[in-house]
Amino acid sequence: MHSLLNQTRVEFLRGDITRQDTEAIVNAANSSLLGGGGVDGAIHRAGGPRILEECKKIRSQHGGCPTGDAVITTGGNLPARYVIHTVGPVWHGGSQNEAMLLRAAYLNSLGLAQENGIISIAFPSISTGAYCYPVKQAAAIAVAAVLEFARPHNQPGLIRFVLFNDRDLAVYQAAWEEAVSSL
Ligand code: APR
Repeated sequence: MHSLLNQTRVEFLRGDITRQDTEAIVNAANSSLLGGGGVDGAIHRAGGPRILEECKKIRSQHGGCPTGDAVITTGGNLPARYVIHTVGPVWHGGSQNEAMLLRAAYLNSLGLAQENGIISIAFPSISTGAYCYPVKQAAAIAVAAVLEFARPHNQPGLIRFVLFNDRDLAVYQAAWEEAVSSL
């Protein structure tokens, strides 16, 4: 499914983030930037050691990546040229600023893409795996952040949400329909 938002095409599909041929893919990282499981593990496995080397260099210069922030590396052996590593919040029931931090993760990733002239970006479902963020709530925040960023910026040309199963795909598509219908 796709929609046009001014100049930005927004797509939702089921797939593997590491196989996306967008210019950048977003990693659901942790603050250490030293890798992990899920999306993080898949990206480092498929992208090769170069990505971790660049993450370690960022660590040595800036420490890790605070929750809600984003950093960028090359894509190593991935089809994507860049990996934008962002750190989503761990779900603690919703009373610890999780929604604001998840929104920031999407907005900072989009801002970093724009700063680097990146024209297409693919997001996984940030925070909804190991970090236990309820998918429905996370999807609503993700699509709202995309609408907030893409409408005034007219960039990037393509934002793709890559979901790992049909259930999540349906949830994100429904969240998008809901958000667009109330514009
Ligand atoms: N492609 C697309 N989506 C994927 C992939 C993949 N290859 N692998 C997993 N997913 C999905 C999961 O099903 C989940 O819906 O990505 C979503 C995010 O799951 P996680 O990767 O667990 O990310 P998150 O919940 O943000 O937790 C981040 O997990 O792997 C560690 O180092 C990482 O500490 C960090 C934490």
